Amino acid sequence: MPEPSSNPIVAAGNISNPRKPVTVPDFLSARSRGVKLTVLTAYDYTFAKLLDSAGVDALLVGDSLGMVVQGHDTSLTVTLEEMIYHTHLVARGTEHALIIADMPFMSFQVSAQQALANAGRLVKEGFAHAVKLEGGRRTADAIRAITAADIPVMGHVGLTPQSVHRFGGFRVQRDAEHLMDDALAVQEAGAFSLVLECVPSETAAKITSRLRIPTIGIGAGPSCDGQVLVAHDMLGLFEEIRPRFVKRYAELGQAIGQAVEEYCREVRAGKYPGPEHGFK
Ligand code: KIV
Repeated sequence: MPEPSSNPIVAAGNISNPRKPVTVPDFLSARSRGVKLTVLTAYDYTFAKLLDSAGVDALLVGDSLGMVVQGHDTSLTVTLEEMIYHTHLVARGTEHALIIADMPFMSFQVSAQQALANAGRLVKEGFAHAVKLEGGRRTADAIRAITAADIPVMGHVGLTPQSVHRFGGFRVQRDAEHLMDDALAVQEAGAFSLVLECVPSETAAKITSRLRIPTIGIGAGPSCDGQVLVAHDMLGLFEEIRPRFVKRYAELGQAIGQAVEEYCREVRAGKYPGPEHGFK
């Protein structure tokens, strides 16, 4: 097995041209090439540009934006129009990452036809390359309808945040047999990858070894084929919930607080703007 490349763009399979866009086939071949996939959430142009330039393989326009951008307690209120808007902003800042748009609550549950029509809007109006749907066996019909129209689908099982009220909170999902059945149903319906959220590492390892499609873990241990995190969590920008599985790679919230305090001090003291900031 080849050594995993330290360059994530090359890692996604574009050795001859490091700036070539990451594709669904790159995801599907990642395991056989011995590379781990990297996914982060993005909701706007500036973040998309920063994360894309740093070499992340895929940007997920997650409905987590309901919490980290809009300030709600759950993602349930996010609308399809909002997802299209944010996906479009992310697309403007992205050159090579695969753009995956979340299908928000009630945009795919009513019927497979409704799911297909709404997935189509995320691609046509939002410029998504793929969509993500939460749920296992119960979403199989929707996944089949969407993939039949050649729109790639990422599945999502385990702690599906749109089910928060049924779960009674954001809780680790431990029913290994149920999770395996859901994962297999998503794969058989035609998904190209599967998010496993908050499941025990051992269960995630078993599901990963049973599936042909790559698993992307979040709170699911190291055996998954890739990892996804909410960018606001790993960059230290979101304080309300601090899940145990998040590693904070930066403390940008603190850095922003310090910068703003300094700005306020300097303006109040007459130190900013200085002569170099003015026009002659
Ligand atoms: O909405 C989201 O950001 C997600 C990830 C946490 C996987 O679904």
